[in-house]
Amino acid sequence: QKITKVYIVACGSSYHAALLAKYAIEHWARVAAEVDIASEFRYRDPVLDPAALAVGVSQSGESLDTLLALREARRRGARVLAVTNVVDSSIAREADAALYTRAGPEICVAATKTLLAQIVALELFALTLAQVRGTRSAEEIGHIIDSLHRLPEMIEDVLSREKEVDQVAEALAGARDFFYLGRNVGYPVALEGALKLKELSYLHAEGYPAGELKHGPIALIEPGTVVVGIATRNPLWEKFQSNIAEVKSRGATVVLVANDGDEETARQADAVLWVPETEYLFAPIVDVVPLQMFAYSLARLHGHDVDRPRNLAK
Ligand code: BG6
Repeated sequence: QKITKVYIVACGSSYHAALLAKYAIEHWARVAAEVDIASEFRYRDPVLDPAALAVGVSQSGESLDTLLALREARRRGARVLAVTNVVDSSIAREADAALYTRAGPEICVAATKTLLAQIVALELFALTLAQVRGTRSAEEIGHIIDSLHRLPEMIEDVLSREKEVDQVAEALAGARDFFYLGRNVGYPVALEGALKLKELSYLHAEGYPAGELKHGPIALIEPGTVVVGIATRNPLWEKFQSNIAEVKSRGATVVLVANDGDEETARQADAVLWVPETEYLFAPIVDVVPLQMFAYSLARLHGHDVDRPRNLAK
């Protein structure tokens, strides 16, 4: 109830879940939240006050950078919360409290289901903060929780569209460069989509906040570049449409993740990955699934072992 700030540290996909937590904590609970890559946080001489909370997000609970970043936060007086999938892992044991995602063992190296569970856990934490601090009414929180209960069905629905995702992947099997763009909560989804493609397919992929496009990366857009846009409804949906128009006019092949029935978005796209619409802060939990499937499909088309990507270890 009394914390003044939340610092979240993580690596890889867990860092993307952490970025989403920042949107939820600040929007719902009105507490400032900062997110750091664990290997940067631990060496950057951070300023923490004793009323700060440090949150470490780690699927395995064993990533050394995250563990040591949390140790550093505790040394500077912060209380520590672990969000992990592994009960009794090192990070959980050293924390003051642990929030377990309990998604079952993540067998492949690239995180998939555990990422969804991390986002849910962190957003529930944000809602709990909102509740105890009184920044959202019980009624509003009740409505939000109702949408949360509908997510499993929506994800099942997206998973049943595997053939459509495969068709898009087949059409792009020869492409070498992929830009993933999003704004607001679509931005961490773009980062995660690009990471999954790199990890599994070994293709060049970059995730960018679309508003930054004009400050550099747009120079790289040319015919043949694939742009994957997270174009589901969020407060910046309209602005995002203009970003897509910019890459389209430079000849990019555009694939958009769009909400079912959103023909306006579909008109801008060469291919659409359709998903059901939900409360916008939960949208990443649904929107990331077709991108995971897309990376899986492209990796298989390129003949790679999706469970054991090269150079990566758990
Ligand atoms: C990397 C994995 O080594 O660690 C990523 O390749 C993962 O997939 C990252 O996201 C962080 O792992 P953890 O267990 O701390 O979430």
